[in-house]
Amino acid sequence: MRDDDHPKSGPSNPTRRTFLLTTGGTAATTVIAACVPALANSTAVQSGSGAASADRPNLEGAVPITLRINGKDHQLRVDPRTTLLDCLRETVALTGTKKGCDHGQCGACTVHVNGRRVNSCLSLALMHDGEEITTIEGLGAPDALHPMQAAFVATDGYQCGYCTSGQIMSAVALLKEPCGPDDAAVKELMSGNICRCGAYANIVAAIQQVRKHT
Ligand code: FES
Repeated sequence: MRDDDHPKSGPSNPTRRTFLLTTGGTAATTVIAACVPALANSTAVQSGSGAASADRPNLEGAVPITLRINGKDHQLRVDPRTTLLDCLRETVALTGTKKGCDHGQCGACTVHVNGRRVNSCLSLALMHDGEEITTIEGLGAPDALHPMQAAFVATDGYQCGYCTSGQIMSAVALLKEPCGPDDAAVKELMSGNICRCGAYANIVAAIQQVRKHT
């Protein structure tokens, strides 16, 4: 008997086949959504941020900081030991920035601080009081992709999608950095961003595509 014919298979008892069909059909949508959250989600994030701050107990030793994230000021109280990555994901609820190694080795957590790329897992939120933070959520909109986001889609520059937001943030920052014209130069400057699926050739193609048109 095939999985599909199993009398117990169904929405409440998904078989391997129905699981794969469902996840496969939505994989691309999930990746794009992670990189360019729907406007509805953005609204939810903003209101969720306020709710989280209001509900959060006034922790002993917490310090007030203001982070300007994606063009909006966020007045927060954070434990001085909180990394920028954890602050973005858990306090501000911007989960497009990913935690991979949490040790500065994979680049999944890359964001821009005052226009320059940083590994947010290696930086304390407290160090960025008053600074301008840009995350993947602030890069483009669903109906107006950043050229780098569009290029990643066009060249299949993502596979599982986990590293994609960090790759794109790094790639956008690279456009403003000294970089030679050939692929080897791009690979060197992107060497801090690991892709476990090995989509490197497509990522380089996306970056070169954008560089040619800017
Ligand atoms: S999670 Fe920050 S470099 Fe890997």
